[in-house]
Amino acid sequence: MEQKKQHDQLTQEKTSAAHAALQLVKDGMVLGLGSGSTVKIFMKLLAEKVKREGIKVYIVSSSYDTSILAATLGLIEVSLNSFTPDLSIDGADTVFPDKSLIKGGGGCLLREKLVNYYAREYVIIVDHTKLRAKLDGPLTVPIEVHPMSYSQVVKALRETFNAESSLRVFSEKKLGPAITDNGGFLLDATLKWSGDMRILEEKLKSLPGVLETGIFAIKKPSKIFVGRGESYTVIE
Ligand code: 5RP
Repeated sequence: MEQKKQHDQLTQEKTSAAHAALQLVKDGMVLGLGSGSTVKIFMKLLAEKVKREGIKVYIVSSSYDTSILAATLGLIEVSLNSFTPDLSIDGADTVFPDKSLIKGGGGCLLREKLVNYYAREYVIIVDHTKLRAKLDGPLTVPIEVHPMSYSQVVKALRETFNAESSLRVFSEKKLGPAITDNGGFLLDATLKWSGDMRILEEKLKSLPGVLETGIFAIKKPSKIFVGRGESYTVIE
């Protein structure tokens, strides 16, 4: 019962943050869409707004999961090769005070990075539990790797960052590693880092076999909407 109450509270916060981001949407916009439960709430509100106001928006998706929901809701999907998103909207797993992020809980980090970094700007919508006050203690960073070299990357992460990494596996209905939408494997690397997160993003990305990292620090979101009950606060 306590768990359900907490879940409902967090859903309310995600909804408040999604409503805040919805105010930025204007007729004719190309919108990047991240992935995850908060983005799903945003997409449902977006589809309602499109119908209610008779506006047109075009979406660039960051996962099959988001594309499937977009099709169900009647949102029109276009390709990143043909369009630059005016604005991208995404969730996050961890938000630091300098607006750097850790993402990839849903394994969609590579396409999320493409959509967010190539958008003119991106905003993040989260419930309050995602905020982390300080960059201390170990970080767990999702990393997408090429299957051919995942164990070499695990070794390189140990040697370079003293990191312990685990290969993400499907928990049900399929045995073996979780395969991303791009055919990659996922590592969850636990490491310590203090200082500039942009350097961590660059260093991780430079290891051969790393396709993308869940650190989003080189390009930061323009705004982070944090749900607070039925209201929200903004980190700019
Ligand atoms: C998926 C992500 C999500 O944005 C992140 O995991 C947050 O998800 P949720 O909104 O369900 O808490 O990075 O790869």
